[in-house]
Amino acid sequence: VPDSRSGVSPFKGLPAFEEADAARFFGRKALTARLLDHLHESRFLAVVGASGSGKSSVVRAGLIPAVRAQRNRPVHLITPTAQPLEALATTLTRHSESVTATATLIDDLRQDARSLHLYARKLLGDQPALLLVVDQFEELFTLCRDESEREAFVANLVTAVAPGTGGPIRAVITLRADFYNHCLAYPRLHALLEAQQRIVGPMSAEELRQAIELPAQRQGLAFEPGLVELLLREVGAAGGRLPEPGALPLLSHALLETWRRREGDKLTLAGYTAAGGVRGAIAQTADATYTSLPPDRQVIARNIFLRLTELGEGTQDTRRRAPLDELIPQGEGAGTSAAVLRLLADARLVTTDEDAAEVAHEALIREWPALRRWLDEDREALRLHRQLTEDAAAWEASGRDDSYLYRGARLEAAGEWAEAEVAPLK
Ligand SMILES: Nc1ncnc2c1ncn2[C@@H]1O[C@H](COP(=O)(O)OP(=O)(O)O)[C@@H](O)[C@H]1O
Ligand SMILES: [Mg+2]
Repeated sequence: VPDSRSGVSPFKGLPAFEEADAARFFGRKALTARLLDHLHESRFLAVVGASGSGKSSVVRAGLIPAVRAQRNRPVHLITPTAQPLEALATTLTRHSESVTATATLIDDLRQDARSLHLYARKLLGDQPALLLVVDQFEELFTLCRDESEREAFVANLVTAVAPGTGGPIRAVITLRADFYNHCLAYPRLHALLEAQQRIVGPMSAEELRQAIELPAQRQGLAFEPGLVELLLREVGAAGGRLPEPGALPLLSHALLETWRRREGDKLTLAGYTAAGGVRGAIAQTADATYTSLPPDRQVIARNIFLRLTELGEGTQDTRRRAPLDELIPQGEGAGTSAAVLRLLADARLVTTDEDAAEVAHEALIREWPALRRWLDEDREALRLHRQLTEDAAAWEASGRDDSYLYRGARLEAAGEWAEAEVAPLK
């Protein structure tokens, strides 16, 4: 049993590093410098790498603070979500007094690909430039279902950074390498990617050592002799080899769990082993959290994790941000669902904000056998159910227009599971 959940951890665990974590972010000096150099020369940068390679972290906790330190320019950071134009318009109008500004900008972006460029110019006045970061660019393909919205988003982006435009926007996107080919369907994006990308590869063994040791050192914590070498070996980075792909989130989580089992100011081999090691810590945390729940709450937890997974179509499964009102249906069970979600967030398996939640990292989807089993058992039913959820949202958005909808979608809108209810009404 971990001795403490309290105190500020030197390690981040599953979530990506944020700008506020810059002081405990180590091991990416060289990469950050390369990204910064690229942005001096160019107004577009694609940061490409595998899931879990550290793209979000190096951009948020490395590049953004470095840009701010060099020149004080406004930064707008978004993830596309299912409504990329809304995400974009919301951040750009964040200081606007007018309540209709966001809606107007969404309409403009949809209608004219120059809108992003023009709006940024107006917004900045005589300030020279603005940094727009689109993290998890692949959500344009996994979460956004509306091809015309996706096209409008891409068109605005490529127009804003086109060499001829001379505009104030510098844009950085992070992109999962396995979604690269999705981008190639958009010729101007294709051209940008071809010329303006940097790859996030594995850290060197030396960089990994820094990422392990320096955050602890900063807080006056010491590793028991041999533990750092063991960690490096377990991520495959011993003897001059590079770590295995996908090792970073496992390492990050294992370090956090080892810290929670620390003895005084010592991070111990015993603590590391009890946490399950690099390979097992995620599954162990997830299993322990899940099995600590009574059966009725286990059902809720399982449904939450399934709703937070986007089923891959010929690609790996990815995370899915779900609105809180989907995870916590109105009515009788609302309090219980909210409590389960809070527990998952406390265990740092899930991150939540005011209106949505997501798994703390895709590594959880890959590395937790129980979740994999649930996903594989029922892929078709889940796909069907996801379709119902979307139909239900569309039905609500249409003002409950009865003409086109499946009965199942209405049950879903009412907060009930509805796999069996698939007969069209008309
Ligand atoms: N420099 C670093 N030091 C330690 N852990 C890191 C570092 N960069 C990333 N991580 C951890 O690795 C995992 C993956 O990082 P993330 O930025 O989310 O990758 P991606 O965006 O490529 O999926 C997270 O758990 C994060 O905390
Ligand atoms: Mg990321």
